[in-house]
Amino acid sequence: MQTIRVHDKLFEPYLSESSIAEKVKSLAEKLNKDYEGKKPLFIAILNGSFIFAADLFKSISIEAEICFIKLASYKGTKSSGQVITAIGLDMDLFNRHVVILEDIVDTGKTLNEFLPQLYHQQPASLKIVALLHKPEAMVFPVNVDYTGFSIPNKFVVGYGLDYNGLGRNIAAIYQLVE
Ligand code: IMP
Repeated sequence: MQTIRVHDKLFEPYLSESSIAEKVKSLAEKLNKDYEGKKPLFIAILNGSFIFAADLFKSISIEAEICFIKLASYKGTKSSGQVITAIGLDMDLFNRHVVILEDIVDTGKTLNEFLPQLYHQQPASLKIVALLHKPEAMVFPVNVDYTGFSIPNKFVVGYGLDYNGLGRNIAAIYQLVE
């Protein structure tokens, strides 16, 4: 088995390029059906989702828009701790069918904190697409509407996902060797 090294850690092949491509196509087909005539607005969350979003969007054949945002968290002044803000969210979501594109939902913390800000704009609907979902790691309640792969609670890299900045350019997905 072809293991790879990223920084100080070893990773082994987990999801092949072809299985990812097949899954992304089937997610796009479902979305094409479910959003026909609704002119959805896809919001891809950077950095991790850039490859997934690009590949998925190429297979979206219905009328649709896409924008890319980055989430930044900083320590708020209130005791609630982290505050999440979206950089680059310049679209009006009112009455739009919004589809969030995430590379991976792990604990659910990021989306759990960020989604209320989107609901605040009163979209017609708001759904979440995640290429990867780690159900065992879920701490904060987030309903993932479209999941590519449910995976065990192990760290993965590749296909846009990084380990301390490296590994995003690996075409397949690799899992940490423990
Ligand atoms: P959550 O807020 O815990 O759901 O974390 C979501 C974010 O953590 C993702 O968008 C990723 O950037 C990062 N993340 C979680 N698990 C992994 C992993 O296994 N590999 C790479 N990044 C991960």
